[in-house]
Amino acid sequence: MLAARRVAPSILASDFAHLGSQVDEVMDAGARVIHVDVMDGHFVPPITIGLPIVDALRDQVQSREGLLDVHLMIERPERQLADFARAGADLITIHAEATPHLHYALDAIRETGALAGLALNPATPPQMVDTLAALSAFDLLLCMTVNPGWGGQRYIAGSEAKVSSLAGKLAERAVVEVDGGIDATTAPTAADAGARLFVVGSSIFDTDDPGAAYRAVADSIDAA
Ligand code: DX5
Ligand code: ZN
Repeated sequence: MLAARRVAPSILASDFAHLGSQVDEVMDAGARVIHVDVMDGHFVPPITIGLPIVDALRDQVQSREGLLDVHLMIERPERQLADFARAGADLITIHAEATPHLHYALDAIRETGALAGLALNPATPPQMVDTLAALSAFDLLLCMTVNPGWGGQRYIAGSEAKVSSLAGKLAERAVVEVDGGIDATTAPTAADAGARLFVVGSSIFDTDDPGAAYRAVADSIDAA
């Protein structure tokens, strides 16, 4: 599923009163990775959504052979991992800045059967992943291209250098995901730098036609 470049619509920007139909619209357009942003009001100021939403979407997404990509912007994520896996998360990403026990937590994600992702804030240097990369401790590296906490922010110009540095550190199987300010202009730049998974919130859901907006970003990375 993650071998090809893919756009992962982030439901944070969707209309929650019509969540099921919004997810169907992007899946009808071809999306197979649905990104869920969980925020706890501590690691980042906002509180967003959590287990009930993952659980509510699991059948809809997995029955169409899609993946639920859960991005945990929460402190001490190791305390919550098993619950998110049980709720239906296929891929669980934790932040390098959120726990002193990263190796343990990544390992605990894999023990649930989910894929393990490691996210880096813009200020966290790429070398931070070296020890864990040498141990093949993760399946995905999420390079934040905005500061986490809010949708609709502008892509941090120059993030490509970090994406390409991270892509160079990975084993064949692992992928780099970018998240924040990604649209049909910034996605090809990140694709050229080595990103394979592209989280897109507002440029898909803050439009009149999320399916068409999904296809526009997907076409932009196919052309890159
Ligand atoms: C931000 C979240 C993102 C957010 C991206 O902290 O991790 O996934 O939904 O939204 P856009 O695409 O609007 O920048
Ligand atoms: Zn995210």
